[in-house]
Amino acid sequence: MVVPGSHHTEEQVFPPPLELQNDAHVPDFQSYLQLYKKSVDEPEVFWKEVAQDFFWKSPPKGQFLQYNFDVTRGSIYVKFMEGAKTNMCYNVLDRNVKEKNLGEKVAYFWEGNSPDRQRSITYRQLLKEVCRCANVLKSMETGVGKGDRVAVYLPMIPELVCVMLACARLGAVHSVVFAGFSSESLCERILDSQCLFLVTADGVFRGEKLINLKQIADEALEKCKEKGNFTIKTCIVVRHVGDKMKNGIVSNKLQTHWTAGVDVWWDEAMASAGEECEPEWVEAEDPLFILYTSGSTGKPKGVLHSVAGYLLYTALSFKCVFDHQPGDVYWCTADIGWITGHSYITYGPLANGATSVLFEGIPVYPHVGRFWEIIEKYGVSKFYTAPTAIRLLMKYGQEPLKQFNLDSLKILGTVGEPINPEAWLWFYNVVGQQRCPVLDTFWQTETGGHVLTPLPSAIPLKPGSATLPFFGVQPAILNEHGEELEGEAEGYLVRAKTPYPGYQCFIFLIEQRNAAVLPTQSQHGKGLSGPGCRRDKDGYYWITGRIDDMLNVSGKDSKNKLLDSLMNNQAQGSQLVVAHRTTHCSMDYTRLNLVINTKKGIYCTGDAIDGLPVFPVTAGKILRRVLRQIARGEKDLGDLSTLADPRVVEVLSSQRSEAA
Ligand code: WTA
Repeated sequence: MVVPGSHHTEEQVFPPPLELQNDAHVPDFQSYLQLYKKSVDEPEVFWKEVAQDFFWKSPPKGQFLQYNFDVTRGSIYVKFMEGAKTNMCYNVLDRNVKEKNLGEKVAYFWEGNSPDRQRSITYRQLLKEVCRCANVLKSMETGVGKGDRVAVYLPMIPELVCVMLACARLGAVHSVVFAGFSSESLCERILDSQCLFLVTADGVFRGEKLINLKQIADEALEKCKEKGNFTIKTCIVVRHVGDKMKNGIVSNKLQTHWTAGVDVWWDEAMASAGEECEPEWVEAEDPLFILYTSGSTGKPKGVLHSVAGYLLYTALSFKCVFDHQPGDVYWCTADIGWITGHSYITYGPLANGATSVLFEGIPVYPHVGRFWEIIEKYGVSKFYTAPTAIRLLMKYGQEPLKQFNLDSLKILGTVGEPINPEAWLWFYNVVGQQRCPVLDTFWQTETGGHVLTPLPSAIPLKPGSATLPFFGVQPAILNEHGEELEGEAEGYLVRAKTPYPGYQCFIFLIEQRNAAVLPTQSQHGKGLSGPGCRRDKDGYYWITGRIDDMLNVSGKDSKNKLLDSLMNNQAQGSQLVVAHRTTHCSMDYTRLNLVINTKKGIYCTGDAIDGLPVFPVTAGKILRRVLRQIARGEKDLGDLSTLADPRVVEVLSSQRSEAA
C-alpha cells in the first residue's frame, strides 16, 4: 500500500481535513497502517484490547479467536471469544448509565414523519423502557426466553429500538422485518425463523400516506395459518397513530381489527410492567438477531449475527469511521429494517454512548428540504445516508439547502450502492461545503459492519472509491478461476481471507431450513461476497457492482455506475427499459447513453411516474436482476417479495412489449 496521491493519477484525491485530526481516534495514515497491520498480524491481541471496553460476565475459556477457512481441513467455522458470557443490552445501556455516567445523555432525538411530532430519550429512560418491555415479553402466556425468535414489524419509532434491546436483554433473537414489506414477505420471514411473537403498530404515516400496519400484520398471520404453520402466540401492538385517530383525523381510515387472546396493546401491557429486569447472560457466540437480506440477486436469506463479535465490530467501526466524539449528534437516515440501521442506528452508536437522530419520515415530506431542516434543528455533526437519497435531493438543486444552516456538519457518509462521482462531489461540495470528508462505506448484511471504508482523518479520499479495508479485514481479488490477483487488478471481491469479529457464520436459507449452517459458500476456502471490484495502484478498492448483477452491453460489462449515471441524465423510466432492451440487442455504450440523453424526460430514482412505479426497487436498491430479466422477456422472475411496489413488474413488462 503506498500513500495515495503519490502517483500522478487522473483521479482527484481529497486529503483529510486538518481540523478533525487533533482528537481523532485514528489521526493519520501512519496510525491507520500501524493499527491495520496489528489487526491482521495479531488479531487476538487487537480484538482483546477492543473487548476491554466492554463488560464480560465471564472471560473466554479458550482462545480468543479460532477458525478454519480451509475446506480441505474439515468443516468451516469461526469461533470468537468462545466460552465468554455477556449481554448486549447490558453493554449498550446499563454500562453507559452505571459505569460511564451517561444516564442523562440523550440516546435518541426522535423526529416524527410530521415535523411537529418529536421526543427525546435519555440513556436512563431507554434502559427503563427496555426493562419494562423485557418484563412484558417475559410475562406473556408463553413468555419469551433465551433463543426464542421475535418478529418485529415496526416503523422508525423508539419502540423499535426498545423491543430489539429487550430481546437482547432476554437472550431472545429479534427478526426485524422492514415495515414497508408486504404481508407475504412478513409471513415468509415469520415462518422461516419460526417466530413466537410479533410486535407491530396500528399504523404509520409515510409522507401523507397512511399505512395500516396492523392490517398487513393480520394478513401475514392469516397467510401463516393457511400454510399450516402458525407459531405466533402473541401480537403486541404499539398505538402509534392512535392518538390522531382520537382527534378524528384518521378515524375513518384506520380500523384496527382485534383478535382476542392474541392481540395486546403495547401501552396497556407496559403500564404494569416493572422497571428492573436482570439481563440473561449469554454465550459470546449465541445469536443476537436474524435479518433477511434485501435479495438483490435472488431469494431473501436470513443472516444471523451473534453477540460478542457483532458488539465489538459495530462498536469499533462506528467509533473510528464516524470518529465519534462526546459532543456529536449523529444521524443515519437508513431504516432499522436494514442492516445499516441495526449496526449504525441501534448497536454501534449505543455501544459508544452516542446521541443519534431517529427519523421516521421521508426526505421530501412536507418539503424537499426536510433533511437539511433536521440537520439544523438538532445540530447534526455526522450524517450517514444513501446514494439514492443524495441523487434524489440533487435534483432539487441548492435552493432548499440554502434555507438551513449546515455548519454543524463534520463528517458525511454513504452506504448501500456505489456512489457515482457526480453525486459524491455534490454531497462534498454542496452539503459538506468542502469541509467534510465523504465516506463511501462498503459492506453487507453478512459482514455486520464496514468492510471497505475511509477513516475521516486518516485516509485520503477518491470520489467513487470505498478506499481501504477496515481493521481486521483482508480483502482479496480473485479472477474467474478463483486465483488471487496481486497489485492492480479487477475481479471478484473476497471480503475476508481471515475472519474478523463481525463476520457471520450462519445463514438460514429460506426453503433450505436444514441445509444448515454454512459460512457463505466458499469454494476457495474464503468468504465470497459477490461484488466485482478493482484495486488501483494505491491499493484503493473500487466496487464495480455485483458480478451477477451486471448488464451486458455489447459484450462489455457495464457497471452499476453506468446505470446510476444514466439516471442522473434525466432518463425517463420507459426509455430506460428501452435502453435495457437495446442493451440486450448489443447496442454499444455510447449509443446507449445517446438514447437516454436525446429524449427529454424527468429525473427518476425509482419514483412513480403517473402514479406507477418505474424501477423495481427495494427500499433503496434497484433490483437490476429484475430489469435484466424483464428485458430478456423472461417469465419466471424469481423471488419478488422485497419489491417496494410489485406492480412495477407489470408496468415494465407491458412497456417492453410496446417497445418491442
Ligand atoms: C451494495 C448494506 C458499492 C453491494 C450495508 C453489497 C455497495 C450490497 C456499497 C449489500 C458501497 C453496499 N459501494 N456497493 N459503498 N454498500 N453496497 O446486505 O452490492 O443490504 O453487496 O448491506 O450493497 O447490501 P446489504
